[in-house]
Amino acid sequence: MTNQQAQALAVVILAAGQGTRMKSKLPKVLHEIGGLALIEHVLTTAYQLQPEHVVAVVRHEKEMVSERILKFAPQTILCEQDEIPGTGRAVEQALAALPAAFNGDVVVLSGDVPLIGVETLQQLFTAHRAGAYQMSIVSAVVQQPTGLGRILRDGQGEVSGIVEEKDASPEQRRITEINGGVYVFERAAVTAALAHIDTNNAQGEKYLTDAAAEILAAGGKVTAAVTTDNWALAGVNDRVQLTAAATELNRRVLEQHQRAGVTIVAPETTFIDVTVRISQDVTIEPGTLLRGATQIAADCVIGPDTTLCDAVVGAGATVLRSEVHGATIGAGATVGPFSYLRPETNLGEHGKIGAFVEVKKSQLGAGTKVPHLSYVGDATVGADVNLGAGTIVANYDGVKKHQTVIGDSVRVGSKSVLVAPVEIGAGAYTGAGAVVRKDVPAGALALSVAAQRNLAGWVAANRPDSNSAKAANATDGESQK
Ligand code: UD1
Ligand code: CA
Repeated sequence: MTNQQAQALAVVILAAGQGTRMKSKLPKVLHEIGGLALIEHVLTTAYQLQPEHVVAVVRHEKEMVSERILKFAPQTILCEQDEIPGTGRAVEQALAALPAAFNGDVVVLSGDVPLIGVETLQQLFTAHRAGAYQMSIVSAVVQQPTGLGRILRDGQGEVSGIVEEKDASPEQRRITEINGGVYVFERAAVTAALAHIDTNNAQGEKYLTDAAAEILAAGGKVTAAVTTDNWALAGVNDRVQLTAAATELNRRVLEQHQRAGVTIVAPETTFIDVTVRISQDVTIEPGTLLRGATQIAADCVIGPDTTLCDAVVGAGATVLRSEVHGATIGAGATVGPFSYLRPETNLGEHGKIGAFVEVKKSQLGAGTKVPHLSYVGDATVGADVNLGAGTIVANYDGVKKHQTVIGDSVRVGSKSVLVAPVEIGAGAYTGAGAVVRKDVPAGALALSVAAQRNLAGWVAANRPDSNSAKAANATDGESQK
């Protein structure tokens, strides 16, 4: 084998299994941890190896699984497993889907083992190539081997085969070195081995694990390298294992951010997707969830009790006890407590969204403030605007949504209702409680509430002997005039 051929690599990802123990209508490999489906984590690792080909084997819910795979990694070759069950059959068919000319090494990964990392695989290759093996297995020594395949070794400690738990003798079941289900094979050797493997075993499946004994019998070399990173091989077969893997992944993600200069006050209540980007000197307070494509620039304070999903937050901003989805928050802006920013909202630099405010699909200019108890939807608001407490942008006429445009430096009085479509010119004011149905020219004051009338002595006449009447009376009629 030339050196160049030895470097050529293909990755096979097994994802045809049903995953019955998840008790879910969603296929197992589409369950998510850290914001990505299990299969997406495995695809990420696969592509980090810079292989020539990646083949994913699908069968159960194949449309759903294939669609997700191709969306995430369009170059992936999909291979549908036929009715013959087992990991061996899956690999056999994946190999058939590879270009015939490919004769490099084949890495086999499981779609349900999401924490396998490139380091573990790189170590595996190094050993595999250095020893000129035809099959190298990642194994681990564990306290609870139940359910897993066991590595069999001869008197010299050399691998002699793998036995599945269901086919193992009581003595073999006491072996604590387990098969991690991650391998590298020489293509020709595994292809030849699989051609000889039958389904004559406790599960009636074509086992990939039988390739070990088969390759040895054909005069090949097989090794198993024990990994000390037991999480690398942690399989997800039920929801308990799903959460365990998610917790470990989250711990790793948080640690990376901490080492990169992010303060995380309470890691046990902070959850950050692998896709989130955070700059230096950001502080994440307790109870914070950072999801999806969220990006946070330097010096922000996020939380406590805040969720950011696909949010972009500028440097030095603060988001306190709030929910932000698909919105952009400018540098130095402040949000919260208790506010809700919905998709396509854009808060300008040094803007403010205060307490109990909901903003949807609206542009708010630099320095603009919506400090208290407001709803703003489908609005374009200029810079340096103040929307008084309780301002409502009535964007919905019951059938359609309409736009509201507010110019720079407008002052909207408390509890104004701006009935869309409506436009308020630059520098205009609205009076408290105004219901604004018509455009307001620049610099005007809009009033829509009738002038106030005071009916003197009304309480004494209509509520005699009430506490109010007594209180009014104690002022000697001063305030009744
Ligand atoms: C497998 C190994 C076992 C190892 C364990 C580690 C075999 C026979 N056994 O057992 O030695 O200790 O992994 O996690 O390989 N799959 C297919 N097609 C199939 C069957 C399975 O694509 O017909 C896929 C599954 O979707 C899954 C992976 O292969 O991603 C492993 O299958 P699973 O049934 O979970 O194997 P285990 O019983 O865990
Ligand atoms: Ca499994």
